[in-house]
Amino acid sequence: MLELIGVTKKFGGLLANDNVSMKVEKGQIYGIIGPNGAGKTTLFNCITGFLRPEAGRVIFEGRDITSMPANLICRAGIARTFQIVQVLDSLTVQENAMVGAFCHTNSRMVAEKKASEALDIVRLTDKSTSRAGSLNIAQKKRLQIARALATGAKLVMLDEAMAGLTEAERVQAVQIVKDINSLGITIVLIEHVMEVLMPVSDRVLVLNFGKKIAEDVPSSIVNNEEVINAYLGGHGNA
Ligand SMILES: Nc1ncnc2c1ncn2[C@@H]1O[C@H](COP(=O)(O)OP(=O)(O)OP(=O)(O)O)[C@@H](O)[C@H]1O
Ligand SMILES: [Mg+2]
Repeated sequence: MLELIGVTKKFGGLLANDNVSMKVEKGQIYGIIGPNGAGKTTLFNCITGFLRPEAGRVIFEGRDITSMPANLICRAGIARTFQIVQVLDSLTVQENAMVGAFCHTNSRMVAEKKASEALDIVRLTDKSTSRAGSLNIAQKKRLQIARALATGAKLVMLDEAMAGLTEAERVQAVQIVKDINSLGITIVLIEHVMEVLMPVSDRVLVLNFGKKIAEDVPSSIVNNEEVINAYLGGHGNA
């Protein structure tokens, strides 16, 4: 469904993504891990059109989307959330989710319906009329997911959707990810919390200093020596 071929993104002299290739199959939950600054968010930005890679290609459903603007990539069926939560505080929860739906419709009624369905999936229906600014961080993260779902995306990319959540909130977020996947939506997940990422992922990509150091099933990733040295061994937040 999604293929990256040698994606390279530089910031000045820094290689934030260094020749990264990966393949996500339709229906998968695909995890991305790596230490702080490894290039995970940059990779999301390159896929979703927020940044343009210097080299390499991004193929979505057989179509080269490398140089497409972000709004058209969204329309093609990829939606994402942001590591640093971005919701429209002064709008209601329902209106925030509707923003996603307007990707495909100009009808307020259709957008309201799509938004309601998405809010239901992320368990925010009871907050529909609240201002988004009044939500706590876990709820805002779920609202971002609802906005992504309301676009009708086939592929949803979540950048640290569980970071900073309590244990109970995390358990709920994992269930929501599974629910979304069971609707047939493919998911790419960046996550620092290994106990969360490993059990839900079909495959895992490990980045270190911008480079792919492994891409495999979770059981092989946790036993990969290079991964253990680069990531599991050397970082407290793993
Ligand atoms: N817009 C930018 N301009 C300059 N440097 C950037 C920019 N965005 C990211 N970087 C740098 O690129 C590298 C990769 O950053 P990125 O945010 O992709 O890492 P990450 O793996 O998502 O890290 P984290 O786990 O902390 O979220 C870092 O060294 C970062 O400082
Ligand atoms: Mg990041």
